[in-house]
Amino acid sequence: MKLFIKKPIKQLMAASAETEHSLKRTLGVTSLIALGIGAIIGAGIFVRTAAAAGHHAGPAVTISFLIAAAGCALAGLCYAEFASMIPIAGSAYTYSYATMGEFIAWIIGWDLVLEYALGAATVSIGWAQYFNEFLDTFFNVHIPFQWCHSPFEKAISTTGMYADQVGIHGIVNLPAIAIVFLLTLLLIKGTAESAVVNNIIVIVKVAIVLMIIGLGWQFINPANHTPYMIPADKPPVHTSTGIVDYSSMFNHGWLGVLRGASVVFFAFIGFDAVSTAAQEAKNPQRDMPKGILISLAFCTILYILFSHVLTGLAPYTDFLINGKEASVTYAIKTFMTGYGWLGKLVTVAILAGFSSVILVMLMGQTRVFYTMSNDGLIPKVFSELHPKFRTPYKSQWLFFGFVSIFAGFIPDSVVGDMVSIGTLFAFVLVCLGIMILRKTDPELERPFRTPAYMIVCPLGALICLCMIASEGWENWARLFGWLAIGFIIYFGYSVKHSHVRHGKVEKPNDPINPKYVE
Ligand code: ALA
Repeated sequence: MKLFIKKPIKQLMAASAETEHSLKRTLGVTSLIALGIGAIIGAGIFVRTAAAAGHHAGPAVTISFLIAAAGCALAGLCYAEFASMIPIAGSAYTYSYATMGEFIAWIIGWDLVLEYALGAATVSIGWAQYFNEFLDTFFNVHIPFQWCHSPFEKAISTTGMYADQVGIHGIVNLPAIAIVFLLTLLLIKGTAESAVVNNIIVIVKVAIVLMIIGLGWQFINPANHTPYMIPADKPPVHTSTGIVDYSSMFNHGWLGVLRGASVVFFAFIGFDAVSTAAQEAKNPQRDMPKGILISLAFCTILYILFSHVLTGLAPYTDFLINGKEASVTYAIKTFMTGYGWLGKLVTVAILAGFSSVILVMLMGQTRVFYTMSNDGLIPKVFSELHPKFRTPYKSQWLFFGFVSIFAGFIPDSVVGDMVSIGTLFAFVLVCLGIMILRKTDPELERPFRTPAYMIVCPLGALICLCMIASEGWENWARLFGWLAIGFIIYFGYSVKHSHVRHGKVEKPNDPINPKYVE
């Protein structure tokens, strides 16, 4: 059955060298770190932190961040070994095709849809919340509840912009679909995110987080941090999507903190974007592991300080009701007297910051499918290029439709959890893959070697598995359902069309890789 047939590394490297629009090696370590931070800071910190604190971890969401960071750092070390072994543009899919064979590559590529496409959907839902906040703050208008929420949500807050709509159900989240539409148009026209633009957005995002930490610190109310973990006997809270019952296993104490880790894990997703720029790095072997690990470490410190301040400003239960919409702006406006201007600034910066994350995710998604289509594993439509713009426009439109279904009709908590579980699963495979490869292919050249791999790899996989375990059966079922669909497509289509299986040599022409110009 040739399930584990591998794509020859030499062919990969040669094909990439021949690329008509071959990419310039312009990125130094600073740009790689900026690229990582640009993809990392987004809805995770500005939306999911409050959700994790409110539902599962309380103020101890800081510890959740530590657990999630540990899982990411260990997986990041494994990613770095992968990326340095095959320093060409790609993703975990490309690396695994060359090292672990087609079937594992398929699982990872299919699973990455959860990370990239649904990641874009989650961030677009967060974008919609802050867009409404923006309209409310600057123009004193807002979109009616039913047109900016999924059908699974109900207005319940008696204060704030929807106080007069209590009891109304959502219909569709139009602003979330609109931002995906606009960014799809941009991508079809061939936006090449330049390093300059990326660096500016990174500086703005980091500055905002630092300002909230620095200015918010004096407003921390120690009472909000006591007790630090949610007690099991905390009374339940009614929210727009149902009742939060704190007595249930993963909604209090240490298990709540672990569940919180799987929620805030979303905030770290994106550091693997650094590995996709390998072909543009000046010295990939030396700089890519640095880029991945330094951007991760930097964000971890920021996140812990930020979540400490946020949960100190407002009681965490506020984030379930009044502060559910645009929780960070809510906390600033309500509890940081005299800093209304900061709330406004944050809203605008968040809209720009989220847009760049959505853009990177939508682009990452079509890039993975472009490669998979070039390999024959999925239909050609995903690699057909626009005659003028030379971008995979059909794929971009198809993903616009797919992402819109989730952005428009599903609550962010559900989509966000699917992203987390899908990415965690990919990380588990990467960790185990590196461990297995050390045994099966010890002679492969490894410019960067994961240190103490017999500890790092299994521990990384274990931490990610614990987070997966805490996500509960509904999320496991969604992951298995998604994988089951993937297996049907793989065995029904891909095995018959795979180029590697049938000895075809691809001639990729990869104009959709972004060029980072310094
Ligand atoms: N880490 C990215 C975010 O938080 C996906 O938006």
